[in-house]
Amino acid sequence: MALLGALVCCLLVAGHGRPGLGLSVAPGGSPGPAPAVGQFWHVTDLHLDPTYHITDDHTKVCASSKGAKASNPGPFGDVLCDSPYDLILSAFDFIKNSGQEASFMIWTGDSPPHVPVYELSTDKVISVIANMTATIRSLFPNLRVFPALGNHDYWPQDQLPVVTSKVYNAVADLWKPWLDEEAIRTLRKGGFYSQKVSPNLNLRIISLNTNLYYPPNIMTLNETDPANQFEWLENTLNTSQQNKEKVYIIAHIPVGYLPYLSSTTAMREFHNEKLIDIFRKYSSVIVGQFYGHTHRDSMMVLSDQKGSPINSLFVAPAVTPVKSVLQKQTNNPGVRLFQYDPHDYKLLDMLQYYLNLTDANLKGESDWKLEYVLTQTYSIEDLQPKTLYGLAKQFAILGSEQFIKYYNYYFVSYDSSVICNRKCKAYQICAILGLDHSSYVDCLKQHYIKYHP
Ligand SMILES: *[C@@H]1O[C@H](CO)[C@@H](O)[C@H](O)[C@H]1NC(C)=O
Ligand SMILES: *[C@@H]1O[C@H](CO)[C@@H](O)[C@H](O)[C@H]1NC(C)=O
Ligand SMILES: *[C@@H]1O[C@H](CO)[C@@H](O)[C@H](O)[C@H]1NC(C)=O
Ligand SMILES: *[C@@H]1O[C@H](CO)[C@@H](O)[C@H](O)[C@H]1NC(C)=O
Ligand SMILES: [Zn+2]
Ligand SMILES: [Zn+2]
Repeated sequence: MALLGALVCCLLVAGHGRPGLGLSVAPGGSPGPAPAVGQFWHVTDLHLDPTYHITDDHTKVCASSKGAKASNPGPFGDVLCDSPYDLILSAFDFIKNSGQEASFMIWTGDSPPHVPVYELSTDKVISVIANMTATIRSLFPNLRVFPALGNHDYWPQDQLPVVTSKVYNAVADLWKPWLDEEAIRTLRKGGFYSQKVSPNLNLRIISLNTNLYYPPNIMTLNETDPANQFEWLENTLNTSQQNKEKVYIIAHIPVGYLPYLSSTTAMREFHNEKLIDIFRKYSSVIVGQFYGHTHRDSMMVLSDQKGSPINSLFVAPAVTPVKSVLQKQTNNPGVRLFQYDPHDYKLLDMLQYYLNLTDANLKGESDWKLEYVLTQTYSIEDLQPKTLYGLAKQFAILGSEQFIKYYNYYFVSYDSSVICNRKCKAYQICAILGLDHSSYVDCLKQHYIKYHP
């Protein structure tokens, strides 16, 4: 592991030493030194388990292990448990002390633990979200945070409704310090909102409630446009286009296909197709898309109907390391920093940070580290759709070293010996390149894999 250690060390130096990544500083004549690169944090899937505690009876360490024996519980958690508060605190402490200047943070949902429905309640779910909100606010009193609701941010889980609810009202109140009046109004009504990042930036965040499209959500069965969110999204994007704004889409449940399964979209297929249509129509306005929910690190490239890449999408890994007893692999806890061009908000780079959970528990201290810098690890120029499309084509080559890296990062360096066989690789690649049904099926065909719905 010495080699990997050396690599991490050097990336760290490069990442910290050259935040401008070779871009020229503010052009002459502009008032004041505008930064050469803008930055924002992305955190997701905190999944606090307030019951986590170290005890000799390993079946009682955390409610989220559901009676299973925790495997190697330590102060920063266990792979069979959701996050102890100290793990979450260590992540935010790291962000605070990283030396990185960020202009905002996005937070894409799922704060409560994975426990049986009867162990939670509406009030318990709200109190966990309130705790996470207060924790973030106390550490970052001056940072604007743009949250999105996750399928666990509701009780019963997954059942986010199409009309106002106690939870929508509670989060609207909790997030008032970050959001404007119009955002709060739609958040109360349907769990979604849009807002300009700041009055003097031409950048808008659209925070979608994609939990309305989640297959287990029986509140929205058979609805073509739950909470009229599609209609609202089209109108919002249309107005942004007219006002020459750029948009970042944030949401919990991602569009597209799940990389670890065969032929399965994360949302209902009907809603996925509809969303892809809208994203294609407004691809010139949308300059980035950011999701959570899978707990793994992956990317996607949306292409137009002719096959040209038009949008870059990023799924961030979770802070929680939790897995079920049946799963072999999980993720180390992760948080990430994006860099964008402050003139057009195009994405330039992404720095993925992680906590080696085994190591942190062993040492009794949390040493969050840079895992990789996206452009450096793959030797690419930027995060533009064409660039990432080219990278995915490299991944597809038989025996691609680039893909081996990608698959190790997929689990946030949890187990570098993990192997992805031919079928596994085809599903990974086609999840990157095929976001709607027809392009996904075409992609599988190219990899000689049959589509199995
Ligand atoms: C959040 O919960 C943790 C433990 O579950 C507790 O220690 C902490 O004080 C709470 N913080 C806030 C701001 O409520
Ligand atoms: C949804 O549609 C299916 C098939 O058309 C139908 O069988 C079912 O009763 C509908 N469910 C609801 C809740 O409307
Ligand atoms: C945006 O809305 C205007 C006015 O309703 C309409 O004329 C235009 O076609 C819309 N743009 C797109 C891309 O649909
Ligand atoms: C994580 O820490 C463990 C224990 O110190 C070590 O064996 C392992 O190689 C580390 N993993 C990485 C990716 O550095
Ligand atoms: Zn989720
Ligand atoms: Zn989650």
